[in-house]
Amino acid sequence: MNKDLQLREEINKRLEQVRTKKMKDPYRLAFHLTPPVGLMNDPNGLVYFKDKYHVFFQWNPFGTKHTFKAWGHFSSEDFIQWEEHPPALVPSEWYEKDGCYSGSALTHQGKLYLFYTGNVRTNNGGRESYQCLAVSEDGIHFEKQGPVIELPKGYTSDFRDPKVWREKDRWYMVVGAQTESLEGTVVLYSSLDLLKWKLEGPLAGPGISMSNKFGYMWECPDFFSLDGKDVLIYSPQGLESQQYQFQNLYQSGYIIGSWNRQTKRFEHGKFQELDYGFDFYAPQTFTDNKKRRILIAWMGMGDEQEQNHPTVQNDWLHALTIPRELRVKGGRIYQRPINELKTLRKSHFEASFNLVHEQKEIDIYTQLQEIMIEINKFDGKELSLHLQGNWKLTYFKDQGVVTFERMRFDRSEKETRKCLVETVKHIHILQDHSSVEIFLNNGEKVFTSRFYSESTCTHCLLSVDGSAALHWQNWDLDSFCF
Ligand code: FRU
Repeated sequence: MNKDLQLREEINKRLEQVRTKKMKDPYRLAFHLTPPVGLMNDPNGLVYFKDKYHVFFQWNPFGTKHTFKAWGHFSSEDFIQWEEHPPALVPSEWYEKDGCYSGSALTHQGKLYLFYTGNVRTNNGGRESYQCLAVSEDGIHFEKQGPVIELPKGYTSDFRDPKVWREKDRWYMVVGAQTESLEGTVVLYSSLDLLKWKLEGPLAGPGISMSNKFGYMWECPDFFSLDGKDVLIYSPQGLESQQYQFQNLYQSGYIIGSWNRQTKRFEHGKFQELDYGFDFYAPQTFTDNKKRRILIAWMGMGDEQEQNHPTVQNDWLHALTIPRELRVKGGRIYQRPINELKTLRKSHFEASFNLVHEQKEIDIYTQLQEIMIEINKFDGKELSLHLQGNWKLTYFKDQGVVTFERMRFDRSEKETRKCLVETVKHIHILQDHSSVEIFLNNGEKVFTSRFYSESTCTHCLLSVDGSAALHWQNWDLDSFCF
């Protein structure tokens, strides 16, 4: 039997054996994409093709570690009802034998093209990486075309995650890279036919558009224009943690500016983080049929507490974030849950509160919640929100700081993430059984995190140290249908 078929049979067997364990897990997610079994990491190949949104993802069906990597596949007409498909790519060929790594999708002449990295471990412990192509007519079955780009001079084999787009008569590709002097960077290619690629050189990075080294590797680059600006999103590794920045092991963020299409120079501002929570990495964007720029990220973090997630006991790990619509305003990206998610809303509660040095309990009857708070007036020190007896969001007005606390997964101890804010006027929260996504000021700052709470707590605690006038709304949310 050929390797491809053999791997697919093994995956099917694994699905039959353990899929039901996730269904019974109290921490399974109701409106987030999760792996059918095993480990999910980066979203890949986000695309609108033949009337459907396609979301591919890094998938290890055989366990919850980063060993085997295939491309799992979901599709949807509305971002609400999802269909699971057979894996789009399994690592069956020599040029991808240790993983069909991350990449992107595009549509051209009625076909769907996937560009991805073939990861190869060599006998002497080294690595080789190939940027590969696979093409599909129906969006489900792909024909591999093999490598289209080999490692160029000047870079280590940490060279991966091609993102391809079109401008005028040309295709462009950015690839995440590490220079031979161990600095993170992004490399640009161009092509007229998607098969032959010309190396244009580094697009951004130290010695190009930055004066200093900024991490040792940049993963998952994504380059696009939005609201009159050019934006490069990437996930740098190796940044030192600071009080209000870079608090996770790895980061994801963006630089905004303007790209000169003739000289290929990208002038940009400083790196800004996309998320301040514990679990956000490797985001990817695409434009949909309504011309929206939509972002989905891995709702997880590599190499940090991964095997401590209790879901590992039920043979699954990690998820993707909800889709978010991006806009650029005042030199920064704003992220908002896409409108379609409003269709998950069920019963609604709404009230205005005037609170003076007070703690208010608000009943919530299911863990699946959307909460929206408008802060019309706040004079005081702290305003906080505590949910599920687990996570807590606090706004410290004098310091201009917001903190997010959750209980660690491995022991009953709190851990915290922080960000700086000028003010907080609006808080929008989407909570699933074991995840929460918090959008401050209409998506100016975001915290994305998993949490695991054994509590069956049926209220949320709102505390004000000072006086506050708030408008509160919450909705019970429905599950996705599979
Ligand atoms: C990011 C990443 C990518 C790579 C993939 C492998 O999380 O390390 O750079 O392609 O995961 O699963």
